[in-house]
Amino acid sequence: MNVSLIGSGNVATVLGRLIKQTGHSIDAIISRNPVSGNSLAEELGAVWLPSASAELNSELYIIAVSDTAVAAVADELTGCNALVLHTSGAVSKEVLKPAGDRYGVLYPLQSLRKELKTVPVIPFLIDGSSNSATQTISHFAKTLSGFVQQAGDAERLKMHLSAVIVSNFTNHLYALAHRYCQAEGLDFNLLHPLIKEVAGRLALNSAENLQTGPAIRGDGQTIEKHLQLLGEYPSLQSVYQLFSESITGFYQSPV
Ligand SMILES: NC(=O)c1ccc[n+]([C@@H]2O[C@H](COP(=O)([O-])OP(=O)(O)OC[C@H]3O[C@@H](n4cnc5c(N)ncnc54)[C@H](OP(=O)(O)O)[C@@H]3O)[C@@H](O)[C@H]2O)c1
Repeated sequence: MNVSLIGSGNVATVLGRLIKQTGHSIDAIISRNPVSGNSLAEELGAVWLPSASAELNSELYIIAVSDTAVAAVADELTGCNALVLHTSGAVSKEVLKPAGDRYGVLYPLQSLRKELKTVPVIPFLIDGSSNSATQTISHFAKTLSGFVQQAGDAERLKMHLSAVIVSNFTNHLYALAHRYCQAEGLDFNLLHPLIKEVAGRLALNSAENLQTGPAIRGDGQTIEKHLQLLGEYPSLQSVYQLFSESITGFYQSPV
C-alpha cells in the first residue's frame, strides 16, 4: 500500500521501518516537527510535509501522534478519501469520523521506542468503521505481523490498561529499585539475570503459579526487616507494603 505517516515520534518511526521492510511504500512523513520529521522521511525515502496535502494521494494515512492530538489531526484530513487509522489504545476510533467513511485503528500492543535497533514482534489490535474497512486493515496488519486480532474500543481500552500494568508499572518498579540500589551503593546490574529469568518463565506457566518471595511464604519477619530498611524511602516503603498486601490477599481469596 501507499502509506503516509502523521507524526515522527516513537510509533511513527518504528511502524514506518516495519511498513517499509514489509514492502509497502511510504509517501510522506507529515509532522509539525521539522527536525524529527525530516530525519524520519530521509531514513524511509519519503518526503517531509508540515501538514497533509491533497496532492499526496496516499491510500492509507496512519495518525501516530499523542492521544490528545488525534482528533485535531483527523479534522485536518477532512475529505481525504483514503483509509485513516490511529494507533492509540485509549482513543475511540470514532474521533476519526471527520476524516471520511473509511477509518479505524491499528494499535501496536508493544512498547515502541525509536532507538530500538530491530523491530520487535508486535501484536496488533485492529478495528474498522465498516466490515470492508476492517478487512482492509486486517489484511494490511497481517503483512506486518503474525499476531492480529480485531477488538472494539472497549476491549482495546481494557487491553491497553493491562499493557500499562505489565509494561509501564513493572518498568517503574525497576526504576525504583535502581534508584534504591544507587543510593545504597549496590550494583543494580546484578539483578538483570533475575529480571530476565522471571519474565521468561511466563512462557511456561501463568504468573499466578509462579509467585515467590516473602509475602506468599507468609514470612512476616523478613517483610518487617525490609520495611524498616525502607524507613528513609517512604514512597518505596508504601509501594512495598501495598504489593506485599496485594500478594497476601490474592492468595487468600483467589477469584
Ligand atoms: N510508544 C509506544 O510504545 C506506543 C505503543 C502503542 C500505542 N502508542 C500510541 O501511539 C501514538 C503515538 O505515540 P508515540 O509513543 O509515538 O508518541 P511520541 O513518541 O511522544 O510522539 C508523538 C508525536 O505526536 C506529535 N504531536 C504531539 N502533539 C501534536 C499536535 N497537537 N499536533 C501534531 N502533532 C503532535 C509529536 O510531535 P513533536 O515532536 O513536535 O512533539 C510527535 O511527532 C499515541 O496515540 C500512543 O498512545 C504508543
